[in-house]
Amino acid sequence: MSDTAAPGAIAAPPVDCHVERVTLVEHYTDRLFRFRTTRPASLRFRSGEFVMIGLPGGERPVFRAYSIASPSWDDELEFFSIKVPGGPLTERLQRIAEGDEILIKKKPTGTLVLDALAPGKRLYMLSTGTGIAPFASLIRDPETYEKFDEVILTQTCRRVAELAYGENTVRALVEDPLVGEIAAPRLTFYTTVTREPYARTFRITEAIETGRLFADLGVKPLDPETDRVMICGSIEMTKDCRALCTAAGLEEGSNAKPAHFVVERAFVG
Ligand code: A2P
Repeated sequence: MSDTAAPGAIAAPPVDCHVERVTLVEHYTDRLFRFRTTRPASLRFRSGEFVMIGLPGGERPVFRAYSIASPSWDDELEFFSIKVPGGPLTERLQRIAEGDEILIKKKPTGTLVLDALAPGKRLYMLSTGTGIAPFASLIRDPETYEKFDEVILTQTCRRVAELAYGENTVRALVEDPLVGEIAAPRLTFYTTVTREPYARTFRITEAIETGRLFADLGVKPLDPETDRVMICGSIEMTKDCRALCTAAGLEEGSNAKPAHFVVERAFVG
């Protein structure tokens, strides 16, 4: 679908959309950036859910699914995005600036929510790249720490610079007057990098398979009695992590039937 249209062809925003304004844009690398927007007063969502996002202008706006990276109590919305060269939405989205309008569809949804997990002690959130976005929301939600004693967020990226969003978010969280006190003693951020020298140069799947992750954390391997897992990354990554969870005896859950682990593909485009 074309992003360009004759000026006369610009349509009014679809009725199922909120029209919001960008409040901040921050670029990390040539592939990653975050942006924040005003939040519609009527938008309610559960931390970890996603919404469809588009840009006004053009005959028919292109929408893509974006995990809401901000917690449900935040006055604004935050999103963490990849820049896909020639991507139907991100080619334009990566050029947005403060004050620009953005379309946000009204119905948030998703499976990476606390309600889809049976009670447990330790919560693993496994991510690659922008798959960290729903977890950036969940780690800032006090309910996560009411439900779990320990929260282990992992992110695997190609390059060290791509970890900056997660590192900044975790640092700000620890210093947050509202959630920092409950989160700081329970949250561990475990980062790995695959294409550059780093302290841990392997995929998270390898760290689970070899037991390196559990040795580093000083905990026993995945156990359906105590451990719950949320997974968000590429198709291949989610497939491999699902297989590791299943092999450890964990069962996949959903909103309708809470269980031991839940999966969502990180969105691109
Ligand atoms: P690798 O560099 O070995 O491919 P991408 O930017 O392509 O989405 O990748 C983000 C990170 O996810 C990279 O570090 C990549 O490692 C890693 N990755 C890709 N596929 C898998 C997988 N099947 N399981 C775990 N990690 C993966």
